[in-house]
Amino acid sequence: MNSPLIAVDTLEAPIAADRSQIVLQSLLSRQSYWPLTSPGPNDTELASVFDAALRAPDHGKLRPWRFVVVRGAARAALGEVLVDIANARAPDEPRSAHQHRAQKAQAAPVIIAIAAAIDTTSTVPEVEQLLSVGAATMNMLNAIHALGYGGFWVTGPDSYDAHMHASLGFGSDERLLGFLFVGTPSAAQRGTVRPERTAHVREWTGPVTR
Ligand SMILES: Cc1cc2nc3c(=O)[nH]c(=O)nc-3n(C[C@H](O)[C@H](O)[C@H](O)COP(=O)(O)O)c2cc1C
Repeated sequence: MNSPLIAVDTLEAPIAADRSQIVLQSLLSRQSYWPLTSPGPNDTELASVFDAALRAPDHGKLRPWRFVVVRGAARAALGEVLVDIANARAPDEPRSAHQHRAQKAQAAPVIIAIAAAIDTTSTVPEVEQLLSVGAATMNMLNAIHALGYGGFWVTGPDSYDAHMHASLGFGSDERLLGFLFVGTPSAAQRGTVRPERTAHVREWTGPVTR
């Protein structure tokens, strides 16, 4: 396992205030990393990452979260799907011209496809079901960071391609929302510049009159 941000179990009788600072520090220090190298999280660590995902808020208990893990040799097969997609978009070019696209599937030791199973019979709007999967994915990114790894959420046209959708075994009621690349940050990376809080938050004190 990588060094976690803070070795919680080495703290002496942490009081509640210490614990909240540890959690907050972890939330506030998370950033995305690309590319990622080995090692990636092991099975036990991945189980914690998915358990964190399954704590996401979920209107109507619809459990819309669907995750598919791609690692090891399966990444080469995912790379070929990426080549297939590029080849289908430019069929006049030889397949070899698109072979470099396969490299993307090697950009991290663990790749997690993220999807939402949309219940169209529910009174819960689709947007809320998608938001629940977004919240689950954020929990995963935070858990990945807390475990000492790095993550990166990627979409792009390949994520919305029908061949990718079918190749990963998703059904017609499922929407692929991208991929989490997970592993060890391969190089020190500058911290992401965060926006000013005041540009995003305001307090409402009563109806707005125009
Ligand atoms: C749904 C979603 C899809 C994203 N897709 C991409 C992507 O395809 N390519 C990319 O460079 N960044 C993408 N990002 C942004 C990165 O995951 C990341 O958030 C961004 O680089 C900022 O880094 P930070 O997490 O350290 O703030 C996406 C983010 C979200 C929420």
